[in-house]
Amino acid sequence: MEKKLVVANIGMKFGMCHVEGAMNYGAEIAAICDCNEENLRFAGERYGIPEEKWVTDYMDIVNNKDIDVVTVAIPDQQHVKVSCDLLRAGKHVLCEKPLALTREDIEEIIRVADESGSKFMVGQICRFTPSFEKTKELIESGTIGDIYFIESEYAHDYMKLCDDWRADPKRHGVIGGGCHAVDLIRWLAGDPVEVFAYGTHRLLPMVSYDDATIAIMKFDENTMGKVFVSTGCKRDYTMRTVIYGTKGTIICDNTSPEITLYEVDEEGVTKEPTKIPVEVNNHNAAKEFEVFADAIINNKPVVTDAREGAKTVEVCLSIVEAATTGKIVKPNYEF
Ligand SMILES: NC(=O)c1ccc[n+]([C@@H]2O[C@H](COP(=O)([O-])OP(=O)(O)OC[C@H]3O[C@@H](n4cnc5c(N)ncnc54)[C@H](O)[C@@H]3O)[C@@H](O)[C@H]2O)c1
Repeated sequence: MEKKLVVANIGMKFGMCHVEGAMNYGAEIAAICDCNEENLRFAGERYGIPEEKWVTDYMDIVNNKDIDVVTVAIPDQQHVKVSCDLLRAGKHVLCEKPLALTREDIEEIIRVADESGSKFMVGQICRFTPSFEKTKELIESGTIGDIYFIESEYAHDYMKLCDDWRADPKRHGVIGGGCHAVDLIRWLAGDPVEVFAYGTHRLLPMVSYDDATIAIMKFDENTMGKVFVSTGCKRDYTMRTVIYGTKGTIICDNTSPEITLYEVDEEGVTKEPTKIPVEVNNHNAAKEFEVFADAIINNKPVVTDAREGAKTVEVCLSIVEAATTGKIVKPNYEF
């Protein structure tokens, strides 16, 4: 019988979905960690995890030789330090997005992940959202022909969400939240070679950075893209995404129960759209953990590894730079 994966989870707010993902997989939860005792107790009681497995210092997990896999869901500024400590101790690490907030940190985590021989995954969870998985399948099967334009948006009202670490200028909305939309268009259409952007600051009084940004980008001579990020928007959360191809168009969203697919007839004329039902599962942590566990157990490559997470952050940093300088920026994917 295969050995059960022994897991620890750090950060007991959003990170509770990693506890659920690991439990759903049938892993053994050896420890949960949060420096806030109230959050730790809440999660421990909610999942029936005995108190002797609750820790407030993540170094107890680093130093526990029995633990194989650790999930990290703590403020973005700490992703690299904590992940590096865990990787150096031989743990496989699933760390929340964004991978890092600076180029320096990106280089550090790539170096440590390469040296460690452990598996490292960035939790770009939208790649496991059913509507986006189905969209990827339709694109790859040629249903809409060649993509000539892709647009995605991350519109999420942070009015009540914006605590101190989210207000840190380094954690610009384009990097912290917008990385979901940027990662999605990279996954569906490839890496943009040039970006340009405008930003405005109208809605979130507690931040000093732009709370709305629009970026346009070029992928190749025939493919263009657009990403809109608004972290102060007055509407429900959405990641509406539209992919325009030479033979059809797909409209999808992480919060909608259906995908709209337009196809053409033999003469190239647009037909009535097809509505494809999809499960709404915005945070598919179960699938995410399953994919990571499969990579560990069967020694497969991790798709959203440190370099892949780095490319997404690089595009986000380029968007912020373009909006600040008013110049076209070419992302540098050399890591
Ligand atoms: N994939 C997604 O859709 C998604 C959604 C929300 C958050 N996130 C990411 O998850 C991470 C956590 O976000 P959140 O919303 O849970 O933040 P949060 O601030 O609500 O919670 C963070 C938790 O981590 C704890 N913590 C902070 N530093 C710690 C440390 N050094 N050791 C142990 N515990 C520590 C805090 O006490 C708190 O309970 C962030 O990286 C965020 O970007 C991802």
